[in-house]
Amino acid sequence: MPSCLYGSRGLAVASGRGGLVTDTTGKEYVDFFTAHGSALFGHCHPRLGAALSEGSARPWTIGMGFDDGFRSDLMEKLGSLLPDGKAYLCNSGTEAIETALKLVALFRPGRRRILALRRAFHGRTAGALSLTFNPHYRRPFQSLLFDVEHHTPENLASAIDDTVAAVFVEPVQGEGGVHPMDPALGLQVSDACREAGALLVADEVQSGFGRCGAMLASSLAGLASDIVCMAKGVAGGLPVGVTIWKGSLGDFPQGTHGSTYGGNPLVCRVAHEALALVTGENLCGQARELGTAFRARLEAIDSPSVKEVRGLGLLVGVEVEGRSAPVVRALQERGVLALPAGPNVVRFLPSFAAEPAHFERVAQSFEEVLAVGNPA
Ligand SMILES: Cc1ncc(COP(=O)(O)O)c(C=O)c1O
Repeated sequence: MPSCLYGSRGLAVASGRGGLVTDTTGKEYVDFFTAHGSALFGHCHPRLGAALSEGSARPWTIGMGFDDGFRSDLMEKLGSLLPDGKAYLCNSGTEAIETALKLVALFRPGRRRILALRRAFHGRTAGALSLTFNPHYRRPFQSLLFDVEHHTPENLASAIDDTVAAVFVEPVQGEGGVHPMDPALGLQVSDACREAGALLVADEVQSGFGRCGAMLASSLAGLASDIVCMAKGVAGGLPVGVTIWKGSLGDFPQGTHGSTYGGNPLVCRVAHEALALVTGENLCGQARELGTAFRARLEAIDSPSVKEVRGLGLLVGVEVEGRSAPVVRALQERGVLALPAGPNVVRFLPSFAAEPAHFERVAQSFEEVLAVGNPA
């Protein structure tokens, strides 16, 4: 018997291509769930598939002490996203955050305070869970966690002084209800960090790598990051996490951090291709345009059930009257996969492969679901 941890969507996926998946009964769905956003390029992307099969014909794993051309190039390109930047590769978002926490401890020894935002979600391992706000996730494991101060976006800058080691921010909060950081507040937080010598860490696990319309979502949120974490779509859905930091901060002393699978050539080959796709095919520009048009289409829905439409690029949330889970279920019945972001927000995480007709199908289905009344 599987654990009850994940619940069940009651759907067995048989196949998928681009922005669509088909279940074992032959029913087709527009996929705006994309495995929590990790199928960022859609399903079975031909170039990612080719990279995967090419990588699979060479050693899948060799250890980080051995050189690999695609990996070196990938790390160099990811590092170049920050000034003189360095990159570390692991296997998930939460590990990328743990890595950032260790860098903070190395680069700001003696400073104890770590700040994050209310509604923040940073992962589920002990360090990342300490940063995560939702008590439902934290409470059963409280004895493992360290103290983090959670502030509102408006109060964050004024809480920063020279006792603060680091401030963790999602440029767009995903799990916490799809809340983009106001760029004016982002600038204030960046200034306060610079003046106090506190490190600003952008958690772009969900929002980065082009999803929100820029390679680094922090650049859209006024955040001058010292450290950036990414994961999810970086290798098109294969397990990967990335932590990038400004080279001027320093480096891990040899042997103080590591991962058996992190940086394996197979995943790096696919991530290398994924990076080439994002930078070479104007996917960021498309994400911005399609996302803006989709939000406008959702805002135009004339229903008292729509309280607010929020988001940036391909990370979109609609706050609804009543609970979001029944709306997500009703959408699934109509052939649309979405996911909740907290109790009252329906979240859409389309892939780069989503076509204008898919957005329209989702908007129409959403309209229909709300027209019969929130099934809550
Ligand atoms: C912003 C953010 N940070 C961290 C994580 C944790 O990533 P993972 O599930 O890959 O450990 C997530 C996952 O949803 C996330 O959205």
